[in-house]
Amino acid sequence: MLLDEVKRKKEYKNLDDDFVSRVIVSFSGKYELPKQKKELMKVVRAKLRDLYGAFRTPLYRKKEKFLESLAGWDDKEGCRNILGCHLSTKERIDYYDKLYKWLRSNVEFSTVLDIGCGFNVFSMPWLGQVGYYGIEVNKDDVDFCNTYMYRYGLTGGVRWGDVLSFNKVVKTDIVFLFKVLEGFEALERGFSEKMFAELDCDYALVSFATKSLGGKKTISERRLKWFKEFANIVERKKFGTEVYFLCKLK
Ligand SMILES: C[S@@+](CC[C@H](N)C(=O)[O-])C[C@H]1O[C@@H](n2cnc3c(N)ncnc32)[C@H](O)[C@@H]1O
Repeated sequence: MLLDEVKRKKEYKNLDDDFVSRVIVSFSGKYELPKQKKELMKVVRAKLRDLYGAFRTPLYRKKEKFLESLAGWDDKEGCRNILGCHLSTKERIDYYDKLYKWLRSNVEFSTVLDIGCGFNVFSMPWLGQVGYYGIEVNKDDVDFCNTYMYRYGLTGGVRWGDVLSFNKVVKTDIVFLFKVLEGFEALERGFSEKMFAELDCDYALVSFATKSLGGKKTISERRLKWFKEFANIVERKKFGTEVYFLCKLK
């Protein structure tokens, strides 16, 4: 089976089956099987790397050690080390304080749903203790985040799965969608708008990168026309290499 073959590589072993299947299906029409199976495997793995694998920094393998040496859930120095293991959070480390202060000056919230969360739970020292619910497609990262939450008795947890396959998500005061919508759209065009209509929540904080992965090239905000057309944006703010849109959902 194609799914088993993709997941045979260690790098993809812990990805959710629905997610991998979705990527396979998105390309399978373009390749003749079994003749072009090798080519298909190559593009599928490249896409998976794009959607998930590209976010690991060289420090990723040290994350357990960093977690072991945390002095508490709110150990900022320790959490900085862990945030540095995932490219998305690494690029945001110096802005968490400003970002969450800005957010709290606009919205009151005590529960958060973080979709495609990566390691963002480790920003809790800046976010403050909230009921935190994450969704993440990679099992290793899910287990890692839950170990932190369980150890310090934090409310909530991270659920493993492909959000494109979910038909119900937990109700929270705000939803975080940090640097994920373009990846979801690549798999299913129109998914973001559909999700916005279904989320049982008042606000969403959505972010997009303003620089390419690794921060080398500026990428124009003009590409976000599709998002601005359906989202009810109430505030816009740029911090570092990321632009944030606070959206009213209801
Ligand atoms: C660009 S990273 C952003 C991580 C985090 N939101 C942040 O900004 O710190 C995208 C994350 O979404 C996850 N992801 C991608 N597609 C997903 C899906 N369909 N369902 C759940 N998680 C997904 C990836 O594994 C990865 O951790």
